[in-house]
Amino acid sequence: MTAPKHFLDLNDVSADTLRSILDLGVRLKAAQKLGKADRPLVGKTLAMIFEKPSTRTRVSFEVGMKQLGGDVVIMDGQGTQLGRGESVADTARVLSRYVDAIMIRTDDPQKLLDLAKYATVPVINGLTDDSHPCQLMADVMTFEEHQGPIKGKKVTWCGDGNNMAVSFVHAAQRFGFSLSLAVPKELPVPQKVLDWAAGEGADVTLTHDADEACKDANLIVTDCWVSMGDKDAEQRCEYLEPFQVDARRMALAHENAIFMHCLPAHRDEEVTTDVIDGSQSVIWDEVENRLHAQKGVLAWCMS
Ligand code: CP
Ligand code: NVA
Repeated sequence: MTAPKHFLDLNDVSADTLRSILDLGVRLKAAQKLGKADRPLVGKTLAMIFEKPSTRTRVSFEVGMKQLGGDVVIMDGQGTQLGRGESVADTARVLSRYVDAIMIRTDDPQKLLDLAKYATVPVINGLTDDSHPCQLMADVMTFEEHQGPIKGKKVTWCGDGNNMAVSFVHAAQRFGFSLSLAVPKELPVPQKVLDWAAGEGADVTLTHDADEACKDANLIVTDCWVSMGDKDAEQRCEYLEPFQVDARRMALAHENAIFMHCLPAHRDEEVTTDVIDGSQSVIWDEVENRLHAQKGVLAWCMS
């Protein structure tokens, strides 16, 4: 039996494969817009396990599967036996007998790895506390729609060294862009992720000076100051306040620079209202591309 094609993290999939998944997503988007949608997943079912809230991931995966001809089963973590202690290994074995792929959103990255270890069908990371690779596929697609190839371009991350920041580091290496990380020293990107980037020769620089990081950027991106599961909200906001993306910082960037945010957003916290709702913001294209990029992921995993 051949090994399932898991989509666990961007640094777990080769650069060539990521590019071909993205190309597939672009083709599927074009076909859908022309009303000539491909339906390669007729008869296939995706199980989705949610142990954390979601709007975009949940809807875009369900709509994506249906557009590809397949179906979904949505499992609220607490409403399953997994939620009351059935092992991840047994859950993986059970689901593998019913469905053709499993997507999980969980706080615990080890659960994702265990699911992938014991499942005989592909497992997709729908966000953990450590990373959010599906969001990055949509972000790269969106960048390239607006600005052309991302290779060699400058991307600036302003904010928490969280799961999104980690996936941006992975993406910088895999897609060949320059990443400037402006993060508070109290909320760093994990050292092992930076070590991986350095070992892979990625163009990733770290600063605590957001102005410096924003200079000449082609894309400025941020995320909420308090992620799902974070407890120390007040303290985090204090650390992150100097990293807010505002019009002055956007003006430091390249004149055609764009702004992105994975959402949900908190206006006038991590980004000012004029920026997120302004002409440089491409957040609604970014939202839409969750659907198209993930259709590429789903079709690749189950092909
Ligand atoms: N960006 C994102 O993953 O959104 P949801 O939490 O709504 O799925
Ligand atoms: N960093 C955020 C991303 C939400 C899509 C969180 O984990 O809550």
